[in-house]
Amino acid sequence: MPSYTFTVNGESVTVDAPADLAMLWVLRDKLGVKGPKYGCGINVCKACTSHLDGEAFNPCVTPVSDCAGREVTTIEGLADGDQLHPVQEAWLDRDVPQCGYCQPGQIMAAVALLKRTSTPTDAEIDAIENVCRCGTYFRIREAIKQAAAAMR
Ligand code: FES
Ligand code: FES
Repeated sequence: MPSYTFTVNGESVTVDAPADLAMLWVLRDKLGVKGPKYGCGINVCKACTSHLDGEAFNPCVTPVSDCAGREVTTIEGLADGDQLHPVQEAWLDRDVPQCGYCQPGQIMAAVALLKRTSTPTDAEIDAIENVCRCGTYFRIREAIKQAAAAMR
């Protein structure tokens, strides 16, 4: 079985895995990184959203072979030690989550958006495709705007 080396939340890891094994299962089952959630497995719900080289990606449809030599960041790697990311702070302040299942992916998508723009419009926020069955979209929008202001 081939082996692949990449970085997960700042630590270099090497895993033995079939080339086509989805990165979501490498993270969750081989490495015990459970922040990225499984919802659909077909790049629709976005519950698994994480970052690959700093940009949002969906590990449920990304083979481990595509991640070799690259930098994977999950919700577990977002805070700087005890210092939460401003998006996480805003999420807490706005009391965004309900059941919480979609929230790691929502936060990672929000962080990726704020890397692209420091002044996100409602349309840009609404273009985030992450599904929330609890309907927390209004609070997500408010939290993203609050985080954007804090980061400017
Ligand atoms: S699990 Fe639904 S997009 Fe990845
Ligand atoms: S908080 Fe429950 S699915 Fe989003």
